[in-house]
This record gives sequence, C-alpha cells and structure tokens, in this order.
Amino acid sequence: MRIYDIIHKKKNAVELTEAEIRFVVDGVTRNTIPDYQISALLMAICLKGMTAAETTALTLAMAHSGDTLDLSSLPGIKVDKHSTGGVGDKTTLVVAPIVAAMGVTVAKMSGRSLGHTGGTVDKLEGIPGFNAGLTMEEFFATVRRSGICLSGQSMSLAPADKRIYALRDATATIESVPLIAASIMSKKIAAGADRILLDVKTGNGSFMKTVGEAKELARKMVTIGEGAGRKTAAFITDMSNPLGFAVGNILEIKEAVAVLRNEGPEDLRYVCLKLAAHMLHLAEKGTVEHCKTLAEEAIVSGKALEKFAEVVAAQGGDRAYIDDPDRFPTAKIVREIKAPQSGYIQAMDTEGIGITALLLGAGREKTDDKIDYTAGLVLHAKTADYLEAGQPLATLYTSDARKADAAKERFLECFAFSDTPVEKPPLIYCEITGPAAVGESKY
Ligand code: URA
Repeated sequence: MRIYDIIHKKKNAVELTEAEIRFVVDGVTRNTIPDYQISALLMAICLKGMTAAETTALTLAMAHSGDTLDLSSLPGIKVDKHSTGGVGDKTTLVVAPIVAAMGVTVAKMSGRSLGHTGGTVDKLEGIPGFNAGLTMEEFFATVRRSGICLSGQSMSLAPADKRIYALRDATATIESVPLIAASIMSKKIAAGADRILLDVKTGNGSFMKTVGEAKELARKMVTIGEGAGRKTAAFITDMSNPLGFAVGNILEIKEAVAVLRNEGPEDLRYVCLKLAAHMLHLAEKGTVEHCKTLAEEAIVSGKALEKFAEVVAAQGGDRAYIDDPDRFPTAKIVREIKAPQSGYIQAMDTEGIGITALLLGAGREKTDDKIDYTAGLVLHAKTADYLEAGQPLATLYTSDARKADAAKERFLECFAFSDTPVEKPPLIYCEITGPAAVGESKY
C-alpha cells in the first residue's frame, strides 16, 4: 500500500477501504508518513468528504492508535462531555464540578485551543501551579480522591489524533464534519467513559456555521458513540455570540468561577445547567427535571465551587485564586472600546471576536507560540442589546500595546448595528439522542 495512491484516490472522491484508513492512521502514529502527505490527504478529505463507513473506520483506528483507558475500577457510571469548540466556551469549568459535586465520577481529558476557538487546558493553565499534564497514575489517583480530574490529552491516548489535530490547525482543514467527528469520538472512546454528552456548537463562532451542519455532525457522532457501545447524546447550542462575556484564559476562569458562585452571565449559567443536568441524567441520577434541580443545588449550596477548588488544588494549582479570583493578575494594557454608532447590535462576527482574542495574545498563531494568560476581552453588550454611540462595547486586555491596536481594528469589524430591535438568538436549538441518532427534541 502507498500513501500516494490513497491521497490520489481521495482526491478523486473514491471511498477508502478500512485497511487503507488503518494504514494511514498507523503511518501517522509511527511517524512513517511525513507531514506533507498527511496534510495533502486531510485537504482531500476536507474537500471530498468521507462516507459513514470511512468516518467510523477513521474514528476506531484513531481511538486504538494508543492506550485506551479502562475506567471500570472507578465507582459508578462515568460520564464525559465534549464541546466541538467555540469562543468564550468555558462550560467544562462549570459543568464538570457540578456533576462531580453531585457524586458522579468525571474523568475528563480536555483539549487546547484550535483555530479561533479556546481550549479548556489552556484556560486551566492560567491558574498558577495547575498541572494538566498528568501521568496515567496521577490521573487515576486524582479521580479516586476527588471524583474528578481535568487533565490534558495524555500523550499515549489517541496519538494519531494529536498529530492530525495539530496539522489541521496549521493547514485550514479544521472545518470538516468527518474529521471533527473522528477527532472527538476517537478521544472519547479511548478515554473510556460509559456515557458521552456532546455540545455541538453552531453559528459564526463555531466550525459548524449552520444548524443543519451541526445536526449532521451531531448525528454522526451520536451514531459512532452508540455503535461503540457508549450511550451518547448531543445538544446543538448557539455560537453566534460568545458564551458569557469573557474571552481569554484567566478572564474565562474568573467568569466560570462567578457562575459557580451563583453569579455570572445568565446565558452561560443556562447552558451549563442544561449540560450538567443531562450529564447527571445520563448517569442515571433521575429525570432531566430532577437533575436540573440537582445541578442548581450544586451551585446554590457552594458544593460545585468547592469541588472546582478541590480539583484545582489536587492538580497542583493554587486554590487561593479560586477562593479569591481578584488575586489573578490583570493585563498591563487595558483598553476600552466604545460603540462606534448608536443602535441595536444586529449580529456579531463571533469568529472575528475569537481572532481578536488571539491577536491580543490569548491563543497560538503557531503551535509553539506562548500564551499570554491575562490577554483577551470582555464584552459589555451582545446581539440585540441597544447601545448609544460612545457607550462601552468591550474592554481589551493585552501585554503588548502594538497588539492592542491591531486587535481593536479587527474587533470593530465584528459588529453590525440596526436601527430597529433585533431578536436574541436561541441558546439551545435541539437535542439529538438515540441509537440511530434519530431522536430530536427542540428547545
Ligand atoms: N474538538 C476536537 O477535539 N476536535 C476537533 O476536530 C474539533 C473540536
């Protein structure tokens, strides 16, 4: 078998066999296929797509490209969650502690930023001392002790995805339904949870720009999960606005802590409670309604906040920053952006807002770029809000004055204003469930 022939086949939209896909994943894992040939194949997949059989074969081959976790020694039903990526998406930081505080084991491996979207691991590493690079032994010990672990993807788990993920990030091949489905589901299957909840983002700040594309991705992932024997459900949630107001690592940690303190933005709280309730429901803690009450209780009682501080400390982080988020450093340069005109915010280019945060230093433009954990932005208004010209629209945070100028210019391109009132977009579109991923309920 030759990788050249496989690239040629996919370029001509011919279905690849399971053996060919296994050959590719093996070559990716063993480093016997160079980056340029993998990248060429990724671009061909991005342009020509993959059949359901190809996507499943790719997922399973990547899931078995390294270790697979056996969580059976941990108590109860293990539930995992994964988001397809968005701007200001800090839900894991809120949802995982809620679920763990209610007695469900959360053994979670999270990702780093991808393209214009943030990553949970980068956010957590904004907490002084926090260690996301746990060994397997440390991972299991933390889960046993605290009922929760928020680790980065271990080197040995789905290593093929790790290499492909980095190449996709560098070659504009992220937005591909089969590649996203295989990337996420390979990690979820390898990570060993019994039940999986997927948060599939849709809108101009996500990789799936339309609800139709998001549903297609959700159905594919639910079908793959169920096929692998894991009960899987997906929510389609909105990403036509950043979630909450904060975008950027420390800024997002502070906002997540605010929600855990029963404060914080209403949209973020609503989506987090919905996801947490469904994770608890998947863990058989009761009806969705009852689980929503449990999730609310976890916040109101302070148990979820305490669980978050506990896991931060268990992973080497200084919990004093969670107990008192004002201790976090603030960026050297803080610049207020004013509304350039009066009117209702008609729409936001949410991807552009993610890029603004990146330009300020909150993300990586190249894989080896260093993150400025204090960088990012806080919005003061969202779609449908009315502003007078000159009222505060956002505050930008960075350590580099030159970055602030470029970011401001990019940021101001992200808004369209209207003279007439605008409707707020829904936060959740629907839920996709069931073995054949056919069940759909609306919100
Ligand atoms: N998250 C992942 O883990 N993989 C993707 O491809 C996109 C989002």
